[in-house]
Amino acid sequence: MGKRITFHDHKPKTLSLQQAVIEGFSKERKSIPPKFFYDERGSALFAAICDQPEYYPPDVEQAMLTRLAQEIADLTGTGRVIFEPGAGSTAKIRLLLEALRPLAYVPMDISCEFLKQAAADLVDEFPWLPVHATCVDFTHSLPIPETAPPGRRLAFFPGSSIGNFSPQAACEFLTLVHQQIGPDGLLLIGVDTKKDPDILHAAYNDAAGVTAAFNLNLLHRIRNETDVECNPENFDHQAFYNPEQGRIEMHLVSRCRQTLRLNGYRFELAEGETVHTENSYKYTPQEFLAQASRAGLREVRHWVAEQDLFALYLLAGA
Ligand code: AVI
Repeated sequence: MGKRITFHDHKPKTLSLQQAVIEGFSKERKSIPPKFFYDERGSALFAAICDQPEYYPPDVEQAMLTRLAQEIADLTGTGRVIFEPGAGSTAKIRLLLEALRPLAYVPMDISCEFLKQAAADLVDEFPWLPVHATCVDFTHSLPIPETAPPGRRLAFFPGSSIGNFSPQAACEFLTLVHQQIGPDGLLLIGVDTKKDPDILHAAYNDAAGVTAAFNLNLLHRIRNETDVECNPENFDHQAFYNPEQGRIEMHLVSRCRQTLRLNGYRFELAEGETVHTENSYKYTPQEFLAQASRAGLREVRHWVAEQDLFALYLLAGA
């Protein structure tokens, strides 16, 4: 067997935070792409969101993965090379490892230090598992490192991260996954469902204020990592369900009239004006399967949690 753990840095040469601020704040409706949430503090705050009682997706999905692990393994077989875009803490794959017994696991994440630690913890816990950690912006590419063995692939994309893409970008991403899994590959994906807006509202406005801190962390990043002088205290967190679009929207609301300056640019914000930071689309199974088929993926099986709270899909190249 080769090395039990390898690390690959494909750290993006893509849009920097400073460029994203210039681009996003120049628009008529100001915005910043959600991938900038995930610096070290942002990743830790996201992990804390997952522990909030109102944020149901992790618990519901974890219960499903635990209950369905053997059923999933019966459909996928063992000995696949599993790759996971946005693997984060790797908490979810742990629930499947004993049943799926992969040949190797390739966690991918934009947050390199967080990923390194998670990969090291994983090999400690599963000494039989070769891990090829890859630091990458998975919205751009899904490079499987050369150190990973050949073999039938299984992409794992839990947590409804697909909901953070626009429908068009989701189709492009699923097409990219389809290319990477190849003709005998599979995709296991967790997707949040449409449901009572009160449940959704509570999930993105937790009482402890962790989601608010996660959203406001973007402003701390902008203050610390760019030449913009901004005071995070001049903004409020806002999250609401937009029924026409079928998505939760997160915004940072300016509490006052303010001007942000950056390299000769001046960005004026009116009181109450917002910076749009995230969309989280929710799909009915019918909508999601139609979306998957546009990317050439067909259903092997899907499962819906109690009260239709969340769904898991096993898809194959058509
Ligand atoms: C990562 N992603 C699926 C989360 C979501 O629910 O859209 C991010 C998040 N934003 C606020 N809370 C959680």
